[in-house]
Amino acid sequence: MDIYAGKPSSEMLAYLLKRRSVKVEDLSGPGPSAEQLETILTAASRVPDHGKLCPYYFLVFEGVARTKAGEIIAQAYVADNPEAREDKVQCERQRFMRAPLVVAIVMRARMSKNPLWEQILTAGAAAQNFSLAAHALGFGTQWLTEWYAYDENVRKGLGLDAKDVVAGFMYVGTCENQPEERERPDLELIVNRWKEGARLQKGDSYNREKFGYPQNGFDFSKL
Ligand SMILES: Cc1cc2nc3c(=O)[nH]c(=O)nc-3n(C[C@H](O)[C@H](O)[C@H](O)COP(=O)(O)O)c2cc1C
Repeated sequence: MDIYAGKPSSEMLAYLLKRRSVKVEDLSGPGPSAEQLETILTAASRVPDHGKLCPYYFLVFEGVARTKAGEIIAQAYVADNPEAREDKVQCERQRFMRAPLVVAIVMRARMSKNPLWEQILTAGAAAQNFSLAAHALGFGTQWLTEWYAYDENVRKGLGLDAKDVVAGFMYVGTCENQPEERERPDLELIVNRWKEGARLQKGDSYNREKFGYPQNGFDFSKL
């Protein structure tokens, strides 16, 4: 088997430097064939994974499964918003119909001597590999969680249990419109060449007006 470590690919680099998500509103059919989906999932599961724990699994929604899942989302929405207008409920019902294929990437952490944080990163890497592979096959993707990723009724309805966390719903389809550019972090604000005692550029001035930091950082031991 050929391994591609260290082999240059100007095409891949050019792609990475221009990569963009495609909004669900700009995705339509066709979606990936069964063979293409297999390729995407194979790439998605080829990720760095400390301890070979495979702390994630895939949940594929295609065809009628999207309608059924949409019904679960709509019911959960009504349970949370009993006064909701029917057009809003209908919107929720259509969530998974916005693209021909939706794949949930679900993190299911294992007990391990390695920190949980690393398993979270692996699940995120699986989602990003998923997206890159779909793009390489000519599809657009959007990685979404939206409210229903965290809703107990939806989670239960989809078969998730307390050990499962949705890393993302990956919406995949054919690009209807090319996305516009989006602001990216300024490297000068986040790249440091370490020198003893030098003040670090921690990206604090990127979007400073918009986001603060928690007083004492996040406590990852509580995750
Ligand atoms: C874990 C995760 C969840 C996300 N959930 C949402 C979401 O619910 N709604 C949304 O508009 N964007 C969401 N995004 C952001 C989009 O997927 C996308 O990355 C963003 O629109 C920027 O586009 P880009 O990939 O072209 O940089 C999420 C991203 C991540 C990593």
